[in-house]
Amino acid sequence: MISVRQLHPLFFAEIRGADLKAEPTEDLRSAVEAAMEQYNGCVVRQGQITDEEHIRFARLFGPLELPPGYSTRPRGRMAPELFFAGNLDPDGNIKPLTPANQNIAKGAERFHADSSFNPLPSKWSMLRGVECPPSEVGGDTLFVDLRAAYDDLPQETKDRIDGMTGIHDFWRGRAYAGLEVTEEMKAAMPMPPVHHPLVRTTPSGRKAVFVGGHCVGVVGLSDEEGHALVEQLYDHVTQPKYVYRHKWVEGDIVIWDNRFALHAATPLETDQYRRDMRRATINESGEEIDSYEYRRRKQETAA
Ligand code: OGA
Ligand code: MN
Repeated sequence: MISVRQLHPLFFAEIRGADLKAEPTEDLRSAVEAAMEQYNGCVVRQGQITDEEHIRFARLFGPLELPPGYSTRPRGRMAPELFFAGNLDPDGNIKPLTPANQNIAKGAERFHADSSFNPLPSKWSMLRGVECPPSEVGGDTLFVDLRAAYDDLPQETKDRIDGMTGIHDFWRGRAYAGLEVTEEMKAAMPMPPVHHPLVRTTPSGRKAVFVGGHCVGVVGLSDEEGHALVEQLYDHVTQPKYVYRHKWVEGDIVIWDNRFALHAATPLETDQYRRDMRRATINESGEEIDSYEYRRRKQETAA
């Protein structure tokens, strides 16, 4: 029996009774879809599963966004369809907590929607805690409900932002997050900005204010004015009353809707514990492809 229990006054629910080691049932698929529409985020609580079981579950909801360089990536300790979030190197050894490694981690410590900087139609992320440090040393994940945050905006602000288009820029977002960004880094990984509406609508008709770490400005406004507006909205949506804090239990699968929720990592304070988290990223539609390959093909057809 599948049961659903709300975890936060505004959003997020826990789903129990799913058996992801068995071939997923239509009941499970529709229960998760319904819970995601209502709660915007879900924790599927059950024991450890394999990467293959994780991928099979994710594919019930749409085609995967594959990690950059997917087709040439060697098969390592983790299935190449999954993204890594944690403190391990590709061989599975703990990366020391150096200033350089802490700098890299900063990107995910600002609230963001995964992949909002790339041109694929992002839907959900599904992050699985394989090895989780005790919450006391950090590593919780925070979520905000962009629907509730939209509802509470003054009518004047709703009227102002209705119909506006946000600019999502990976490198400028990183720079604003306090990361060192060099010309070499940009040249090695060119990421032209993409656009998303500043106000998005859920399938059942709720509105959400779509900002976050990669959203750096607004089409038609000056850089300063656009940045000031998205920062003001960012400060509004990240108020503690909109935040659910997830404390990981090993085996948890946390699903969030990247169109209507933001998330942020909390820093790890020591390198004494392993953090091994693996993420399937799901698109609304299209073929399974990595975002670099997708951009490359789009450029080719444009040329
Ligand atoms: C992610 C992410 C946060 C965390 O996987 O997209 O931002 O706490 N993770 O690992
Ligand atoms: Mn993320």
